[in-house]
Amino acid sequence: MAVGIFDSGLGGLTVWDAVTKRLPDVPFVYFGDNAHTPYGVRDADDIFDLTTAGVERLWAAGCDLVILACNTASAAALRRMQESWLPEDKRVLGVFVPLIEALTERNWGDNSPPREVAVKHVALFATPATVSSRAFQRELAFRAVGVDVEAQPCGGVVDAIEQGDEILAEALVRSHVEALKRRMPHPEAAILGCTHYPLMQNIFQDALGADVTVYSQADLVADSLADYLDRHPEMVGPGKVSMNLTTGDPSTVSNKATQFLKRRIDFHAA
Ligand code: DGL
Repeated sequence: MAVGIFDSGLGGLTVWDAVTKRLPDVPFVYFGDNAHTPYGVRDADDIFDLTTAGVERLWAAGCDLVILACNTASAAALRRMQESWLPEDKRVLGVFVPLIEALTERNWGDNSPPREVAVKHVALFATPATVSSRAFQRELAFRAVGVDVEAQPCGGVVDAIEQGDEILAEALVRSHVEALKRRMPHPEAAILGCTHYPLMQNIFQDALGADVTVYSQADLVADSLADYLDRHPEMVGPGKVSMNLTTGDPSTVSNKATQFLKRRIDFHAA
């Protein structure tokens, strides 16, 4: 029994960290496509090809259910995968919906018509590919009316995180927050719409100010996965071994992962 967690690189570890703590008895197989990161500057076909290759590797490791712990892959490839690619006995879930349900005060699977919600001004920070897909705005429009979303494509941040350059990542985060605040001076909520960004959550919060509620995905996705597995226990696949796979150099990726999560994490070649 294993569940797969996919990301373009290290960012999905923020989700992996939360789900492994929330579901300690479930084996998880993590796949980081570090050789091809960042996805956020690629086109949709490229993201689709890379994501499906990674998900197939997770199936081979005994996972029937894969969480795309990558907003860029969720935005650019998930719908196409579900509509035309996914075999009947497999599932792939994205990371948008739990976040948008939290923002719009909905329980899982509440498909009632869109309604007014408390927040009116939302700042979205995401990769250029996620921002240009407008997938966030589309999912939000199914659930809420009257919410003004200002999106900031945060070029460079994923690269800096993947390089382990926290000083550059911090400088870029502060400049992206400033750029957004010039267009929306007083957001009530901010969405970290890339799984790499929780690694910089304190900087986002500091730059935005204490009165802005910052939503990040890790715990919301963990709760939603626990709920999903309660309802679909058969989707925990046949794999029994937890492991972390990378298309990059395993020793470099292990060291960076350990640096970010502040506990030893070992990767093996995918
Ligand atoms: N962490 C990913 C996301 O949530 C991917 C970032 C990238 O590879 O550009 O969007």
